[in-house]
Amino acid sequence: MSEVIIIVAVAENYVIGNKGKIPWHISEDFQHFKEITMDFPCMMGDVTYESLPESFRPLPGRENVVLTFNKDYHPEGTTIFHDFEEALEYCKKKYDKVFITGGATIYRIGMPHADKLMITRVHKEYEGDVFFPQVKKEEWVEVEREDHHSDKEDVDFSFVTYVRKNN
Ligand SMILES: NC(=O)c1ccc[n+]([C@@H]2O[C@H](COP(=O)([O-])OP(=O)(O)OC[C@H]3O[C@@H](n4cnc5c(N)ncnc54)[C@H](OP(=O)(O)O)[C@@H]3O)[C@@H](O)[C@H]2O)c1
Repeated sequence: MSEVIIIVAVAENYVIGNKGKIPWHISEDFQHFKEITMDFPCMMGDVTYESLPESFRPLPGRENVVLTFNKDYHPEGTTIFHDFEEALEYCKKKYDKVFITGGATIYRIGMPHADKLMITRVHKEYEGDVFFPQVKKEEWVEVEREDHHSDKEDVDFSFVTYVRKNN
């Protein structure tokens, strides 16, 4: 059985993005994202794909599985799907681990399918227009936490892992 993992960075007020971008720059978190997801598929919406800097897309070393309803959209080097569940089945057949990498819409659809949440908790409130759903204590249990500080962004952050309670 493949493991389905949501990976996301979330501010204290649940903001994950603002005007199509992540509202902070924590290079340690980008590095962490790269290490964790390397060799595995990253499922994302077309808005998130387009928000990646051109030099980082497609994300190297990973199958970029991009969701869109637009039948004419097919950036080079991506695997396109028009249906979330079809995309998930495709990834699960091919890989031991599947990462759901955003954005807000795809996290919302992906949450009921996830076995694990790998959340970078950024310990500050940010202005934003897209949010991550609340992590309900009845459904998720924290199993790991690593605290860090970003000098550049001048903020504390933690890598927190949750697993589904009935796992
Ligand atoms: N903090 C983080 O870790 C993090 C991570 C990723 C993204 N983000 C942020 O999240 C924001 C983007 O989130 P978003 O909600 O606007 O966009 P998104 O989730 O990246 O993409 C949404 C798009 O996906 C397509 N889609 C949605 N449901 C689908 C389905 N069932 N089947 C096929 N395609 C489907 C639609 O595309 P069309 O309507 O175009 O066809 C929809 O507009 C940005 O600000 C980004 O920076 C933050």
